[in-house]
Amino acid sequence: MFITFEGPDGSGKSTIIKKLYEELVKEGYDILLTREPGGTPISEKIRDIILDNNNTNLDYRTEALLYAASRRQHLVEKIWPALKRGEIVLCDRYLDSSLAYQGGARKLGIKNILDINLFATEKTYPDLTIFFDVSPEVGLSRLSHDKKRIADRLDNETSNFHDSVYKTFLEVCDMYPERIIKIDASKSIDEVYNEAYTIIKKKLDELH
Ligand code: TYD
Repeated sequence: MFITFEGPDGSGKSTIIKKLYEELVKEGYDILLTREPGGTPISEKIRDIILDNNNTNLDYRTEALLYAASRRQHLVEKIWPALKRGEIVLCDRYLDSSLAYQGGARKLGIKNILDINLFATEKTYPDLTIFFDVSPEVGLSRLSHDKKRIADRLDNETSNFHDSVYKTFLEVCDMYPERIIKIDASKSIDEVYNEAYTIIKKKLDELH
């Protein structure tokens, strides 16, 4: 079972995923918790290039290809082996982020980005994707209140960029209604957590 979590910056998804992971491990499931871009030493190096604030001249297509390259390496080294071992993989961001950020906000086109990602992933789609639905205003104001967080190259984009990310995410949700479930992430952490937990348990129960 391959489960991914998507949403705009500041949707609270990383906090919730960690809680979900801890609960499911406690219940005895074998779980791999991982994230993109990154997840393996090679992919983390690619992540550093992508998110480095000094790389102001990184071309948008190069950026899209780097995300896809990092994703492939992550699949080969971590995700596919874990799925083969029968584990549940929880991944913080995956190809829908590329569709929203590079396809939509960078204006490279959803179709173009889907094509390079189908090549990179050999058409590995998640079994389930939870989309944390929160407007860019709420998301970005949460980030600005998080004093520990250092803004990366993408956090520092304009509000038009973040509006476009959000709008494209909603389009992507409509493209894959069977796979992607939206939850209202403007609610409290406990409420969002409970909703995400119920959705995942239902999916796991369907399998057994
Ligand atoms: P990260 O700090 O992991 O963000 P978050 O905690 O919000 O998940 O940084 C990842 C950034 O990279 C984030 O702004 C989204 C962006 N991104 C893309 O633009 N394309 C992609 O394919 C992925 C996976 C992430």
